[in-house]
Order: sequence, then C-alpha cells, then structure tokens
Amino acid sequence: MTRDLFNAVKLTDDIYWVGAVDWGIRDFHGYTTNRGTTYNAYLIMGDTITLVDTVKAPFYDEMMRRIASVTDPKNIDIIISNHSEMDHTGSLPRTIDEMKPQTVYASKMGVKAINAHFHRDLGLTVASDGMSIDLGGRTAVFYETRMLHWPDSMVTWLPDDKVLFSQDAFGMHMSGSYRFSDEIDRNVLEYSAREYFANILLPYCDLIPRAIDKLVGAGVAPEIIAPDHGPIHRTPENIETILGWYGCWAEQRPTRRAVIVYDTMWGSTATMARAVGEGFMERGVEVKIMPLGGSHRSDVAAAMLDAGALVVGSPTLNRTLFPSVADIMYYLKGLKPRNIIGGVFGSHGWSGGAVGEIERIFDDMKIDRPVESVSSLYVPDDEVLNTCRTMGQQLADALTNTFNCA
Ligand code: FEO
Repeated sequence: MTRDLFNAVKLTDDIYWVGAVDWGIRDFHGYTTNRGTTYNAYLIMGDTITLVDTVKAPFYDEMMRRIASVTDPKNIDIIISNHSEMDHTGSLPRTIDEMKPQTVYASKMGVKAINAHFHRDLGLTVASDGMSIDLGGRTAVFYETRMLHWPDSMVTWLPDDKVLFSQDAFGMHMSGSYRFSDEIDRNVLEYSAREYFANILLPYCDLIPRAIDKLVGAGVAPEIIAPDHGPIHRTPENIETILGWYGCWAEQRPTRRAVIVYDTMWGSTATMARAVGEGFMERGVEVKIMPLGGSHRSDVAAAMLDAGALVVGSPTLNRTLFPSVADIMYYLKGLKPRNIIGGVFGSHGWSGGAVGEIERIFDDMKIDRPVESVSSLYVPDDEVLNTCRTMGQQLADALTNTFNCA
C-alpha cells in the first residue's frame, strides 16, 4: 500500500475508513463541537469497489488521498449515499464527475434531497427499503431510518461482514487520533455520545426503539457499527454500550438531577439561581447551575438529557426575556424534551415580562410547573431568596426516580 500524507484505516481485511478529520470545526449548525469532528467515508474492496458516503466539500482531497492509498479512486464502481446532509454529500457531485461510478444509490427521499441541494441530475438510483444489491462477492442491504434524523436517512448492512454503516446514528462529534471507540476513554465517549444524541436525535426519540427493532427483526446483528461521525464501534462491549445508551436515552426517564439555566444583568437572577440550587442540594438532588454567559446551548441540552427538572431564570429586559434566555428556550423547545418538570424565576425593575414569557414557553412545551414562579423586584432580599430555596426543595421532592443511563 502506498504511504501518503492521508492514509486509509482498516476495519476488516477489505473494508477501510477513508474519511476526513476536521480538527477545527467549533460550530455545527448551532451545536458547539469543542472536540471537532470527523466525516467518515468507507471503501469496500471486492470485485466491485464501493464508496459509502463522502465528506464535507472542503475535505474532498483528503478523502481522495485516503482512497488512493488503497486503490485508484477511478476504480470506484458504486457509491452509496446513506444521508444527504452536506457534511456527507458535499463531495458527492465532484466524486461522481471525476470518478464516474456506474451507480450511485440513495433512498427515495435522499434522491429528492440531493437533487434539491445541488440542482442538477446526478443520475442517482433509488435504494428502496429492504433492497439488496451485490457488491461483487458480498451483499449490501438498505434499510430506511426515516427522520433519524432526516427523512432521507438510511443505513447499509453488510451481512457477510456483519458491518452496519449507520450514517449519523451512533456517531459523535469528536476529532482525534483514534478511529475506534475501544481506544477512547469511556467517560469521554459517554459525554460525546450524549451531547450528540441530545442535540441531534432528541426530537425523534419515539422513532429510535422502532428503528432498532426493525433492524433486529431483519437480522441485523453488527460486529462493527461504522457511523458517519466520530469513532467506529468494533467490540461487543462497545456495541452493547452504545446501543444501551440509545435505548435508555430514547426513553427520557427522568432522574434526580436538576439543571438550572439563567442569565443575569446585575447579579440578581444569578443570586436567585444559587438559592434555587441550594434547595435542590439540601434534598440530595444533583444540580447543575449553568449561567448562559458561559454555557453553550448544546451543553445545556446535553445536561438536560436525563435530568428530571429544568429551572430557568431571566431578568426582564425591555418587558421580555433576556436574549440568551430566549435563545435557550427556543432551542430546547425544538428538541421536545419529555418527562421533566419546570420551574421559573427572575428579577425585574419597573415592569415584569420575562417570567411570564418563560411560563408560556414551558406551557407550549407541555412541561408541568408544580411550583409557583418566583419574581424579584430589583435585588432579591432574604425573603425572596428563601422562596427560591423552597422552590428548589419542592421541585427536588417531586423527583423520585434514581435511574441512571450511564
Ligand atoms: Fe452528519 Fe445529518 O449529517
């Protein structure tokens, strides 16, 4: 094999990782990616040569050089596009133009989405749900996984190799030197997988057990799960772990954990947040207080994934929410968290507004608020702070589940 600046990494004797490592990305459509990410593409060598997914457009050369470390990229016969989002299809048109594969497969919705992205006929072939194709000595089977997390999403299963190419599912945004999850500390994996699940998959939780049941029912029992981001899972322990996390997180079972998010103008709402936190802690509930001046929305989503309570505080600015609180509330609303209880507090001057606005958003989210909200006129005195502490205690008393997905 030719050694180049960018080389392929073996998954099996004739299946390779040929993706790209993006060490520098820190924002992925609003989700902070402090560890960067990878765009995973895979090369299947056989009598027919197949590329599974491509990479974000600026990484085309890196992918091609990794492919060239195994074979001339012009030998690619088939491309399978499991997901049309541009971190995986950005390089697809150029790969088709330059390598001229015989066939490019995508799901029915994928064909529509890819054509709508690139506004040209790329000559794609529809991969229907359950369809099998021959890859020159081995079989590939396509299974649609609609809305996990786009309508076009599908996975590709190689029964002969027991490899599942799972596109975004079971992935995580993590760059680094290692391509396999068994080479990475479990706590780092858990946080990265949790962050990914909370920010990408949470709105579609109901579909996850159904998709897993569908694959299991079809006889999919992978020995390797190869996602489109982050490390590849290749040991029974790691496969069991990632499947277990997904099953557990999808249930959204609340735990005795609370998340308090707030922003503050002159420190009043911050003081109230700490008082609410004391109430939780006095009752033995694990609490995470997240000032929005230093906490990214996607870190809040990750913290909230298996929390039982979400308490939000905002000062009133111009009769409404502080801007950072509006940002987090609308972001969390879109993620559709379930099975949590809410609490609201905030300070105001000559007019209120923020507390009522948070209450309305909680109502829209169908989040129950078992404790009356706390408002402070200007700076909270001891009476207000004691009411905040009582709010924390009462919310804590409503949390009884000690279950833990980790
Ligand atoms: Fe990694 Fe939904 O794209």
